[in-house]
Amino acid sequence: MHAVDIISKKRDGKPLSKSEIDFFIQGYTQGDIPDYQAAAWAMAVVLNGMTPEETTNLTLAMVDSGDRLDLSDVVDVAVDKHSSGGVGDKTSIAVVPMVRACGLPVGKMSGRGLGFSGGTLDKLESVPGYRSDLSKDEFLEQLGSLGIVLTGQTIDLAPADGKLYALRDVTGTVQSIPLIASSIMSKKIAAGAQAILLDVKTGNGAFMQNLEEARKLAKLMVSIGELSGRDVAALLSDMNQPLGVAVGNALEMKEAIKTLQGEGPADFTEHCLEVASQMLVLGKRAGEKLEAREMAQKAIDSGSAFDFLKKLIIAQGGDVSYIDHPEKLPTAPIQHTLNAPESGYIAQVHARMVGEAAVILGAGRRKKGDSIDQTVGVSVLVKVGEQVEKGQPLFVIHARDEAAQREAEEKIHEAIKIQNEKVDPLPLFYGLVD
Ligand code: URA
Repeated sequence: MHAVDIISKKRDGKPLSKSEIDFFIQGYTQGDIPDYQAAAWAMAVVLNGMTPEETTNLTLAMVDSGDRLDLSDVVDVAVDKHSSGGVGDKTSIAVVPMVRACGLPVGKMSGRGLGFSGGTLDKLESVPGYRSDLSKDEFLEQLGSLGIVLTGQTIDLAPADGKLYALRDVTGTVQSIPLIASSIMSKKIAAGAQAILLDVKTGNGAFMQNLEEARKLAKLMVSIGELSGRDVAALLSDMNQPLGVAVGNALEMKEAIKTLQGEGPADFTEHCLEVASQMLVLGKRAGEKLEAREMAQKAIDSGSAFDFLKKLIIAQGGDVSYIDHPEKLPTAPIQHTLNAPESGYIAQVHARMVGEAAVILGAGRRKKGDSIDQTVGVSVLVKVGEQVEKGQPLFVIHARDEAAQREAEEKIHEAIKIQNEKVDPLPLFYGLVD
């Protein structure tokens, strides 16, 4: 078998057999197939798609590229979550401690930024010392002893996804239902949690632009999870405007901390309560959603969720004084406010453009291995449907220099639309696939 034949077959729109997919994924993981062939193959998949059977085979090949964790030795039930990626999505940093505070262990492996969408690890690493490279043994030990882990994918688990994810980020090959489904589900299956809540985003700031595509992705992932014997549900959530206020690594870390102290933005807090409730039901910690929601709210009000964030940071080597004093988190040298040019109703805060502005500022990567700037980003002060007065602050751009600030500002000007007629607010959710 030759990689070039497999690439050509997919280029011509033909389905790949299980053995071809296994050969390609194994070869890429072991370094026998180079990045340029994997990039060509990924682009062929983006353009020509895969059948559900191919996607399931791809997922299992990526799981088999490394080890599988068996969590049953350390906890009875553990729950995991994963978002398909969005702008301002710091949900895991707030939700994982909330759910743990309700008595349900959470072991989660997160990713880095992907294109215009931010990554949980990049946000967590704005806390000095925080380790997101736990080994498999460290993951299991911490899950057993503390019941909460939030780390990166270990090199032993779904290493094929680790390599492909970084490659797709910089080759325009993120946007593909089979590639996203297999990327997410291979990590989740390998990481061993019995219950998995997926947060599938839809809108201009998501990889799935419309609800129909998002539902397709959600259904595919739920069925792949079930084939592997897991309890899986997928929330469909809006990503037409950024989630919360903060977009950018340290800014989002601060917002997650505030949310656990009961002072987060209303939309982000509501989003976290819903995600946490679904996780509690899925993990059978609560019988139904209302009960779960009360538990999650109590975890915030009592301070126990915030305490679990601190425990998590300490366990993974982070300097907890940055959680007690988030003002210590690094800030950008320039803070530039953009005001409303006219009065009216906010008709659009284009999430993708805001995400792209954050990448321009240095919050994301443009090529593989780029370093990122933890301090920069955008604060989004308004939501669709709000009425604003001329001169009212709409955004704050956090920049490292004036050139980047000006370039980001141009993007942000394109992102916002104000109109005279009233506009309905956007929903947070569009339903649940289970
Ligand atoms: N999140 C992932 O883990 N993988 C993708 O491909 C997209 C979002």
